[in-house]
Amino acid sequence: MPSVRRVGEVVRIVDLRSDTVTLPTEEMLESIKTAKLGDDVYGEDSTVNRLEELSAKKMGKEAALLTTSGTQANLLGVMSQTNRGDEIILENDAHLYYYEVGAFSALGGLVPRMVTGKRGVFTPDDLRRVLRPSNIHFPPTSLVCIENTHNRAGGTIWTPSQTKAIFDFAKNMNLKVHLDGARIFNAAIAQNIDVRELTRYVDTLMFSLSKGLSAPIGSLLVGDHEVIDHARRNRKMLGGGMRQAGIIAAPGIIAIEKMVDRLRDDHSNARILAQGLSKIQGITLDISAVQTNIVIYDVTSLGVNADSWVTKLTESGVKSGAHDSTRVRMVTHRGIEKEDIEYALQVVEKVANQLRKPS
Ligand SMILES: Cc1ncc(COP(=O)(O)O)c(C=O)c1O
Repeated sequence: MPSVRRVGEVVRIVDLRSDTVTLPTEEMLESIKTAKLGDDVYGEDSTVNRLEELSAKKMGKEAALLTTSGTQANLLGVMSQTNRGDEIILENDAHLYYYEVGAFSALGGLVPRMVTGKRGVFTPDDLRRVLRPSNIHFPPTSLVCIENTHNRAGGTIWTPSQTKAIFDFAKNMNLKVHLDGARIFNAAIAQNIDVRELTRYVDTLMFSLSKGLSAPIGSLLVGDHEVIDHARRNRKMLGGGMRQAGIIAAPGIIAIEKMVDRLRDDHSNARILAQGLSKIQGITLDISAVQTNIVIYDVTSLGVNADSWVTKLTESGVKSGAHDSTRVRMVTHRGIEKEDIEYALQVVEKVANQLRKPS
């Protein structure tokens, strides 16, 4: 299903803004009609229960909780393992820090301490540098957060051994580890490993149904019974207790059972896109950073800032997002076929040529 839409005459739009723009499959829509429903706040929605059991099993943990969004699941993961006034460690460009409205501070009462990673990945030595000893002047540190794949670093992956190194260090320091695994299946597929290799070394993780897996709504928080029970109560407090949530869970089950393997296609399309972009004069791109479905490139040499470049591309039929003032992000996903990538590359080249030619 190429993401080719005809608007009026012959306008073709290729939407590379995010994998969150994926629409549910026909099978997902059908599953909503036939899902067995109940009141999930009473624990009586058997479809939600099935999704939560499936998620826990897939991730090799005891329990799981369906949440309204990745943002909510991250907040619940963090809140349910800390006390107000605690310090939590986050990577500089972590989604939790950058894009989640400061919820862990505003609602969780937590203080962030930042660690700088390389392509989003940090080491025990990096952690050692930012951790402070127990002292009456400092907030107690209780949790370390990692992100796999790392969104702002461009979909970069943590390996099992990098994850284990942080986990072992954290356990020595009596810290919990939370994984923002919105795209954890992308990380597993890219490394040809079972996802449990990446979830074994964390206390909790969240993963999204509504990104490359194409379900319309929802994320899961996964961990042991104690923390998930606590998170269930916190979810109710945040207004996230849902009633017949089986209509969300039914497509979620299909997402987990049927949509994981196809993430490979997104990765190979991202590589084709990155290789094509790197050949266009004026575009600067580090191909080795393109490890999954996200491509980030710099447009400084085209003499344009990221926002106006994105506007020009959008006017020509290719949607993307400004990553910062000079860099642009493109994300491959279900609905973007190889021919869409080829078309997008033609558009990029055309717009770049126009910029280089003084009018
Ligand atoms: C790494 C990461 N974490 C968390 C989220 C938040 O998910 P949601 O948009 O469902 O709140 C996103 C969304 O893009 C993400 O990329």
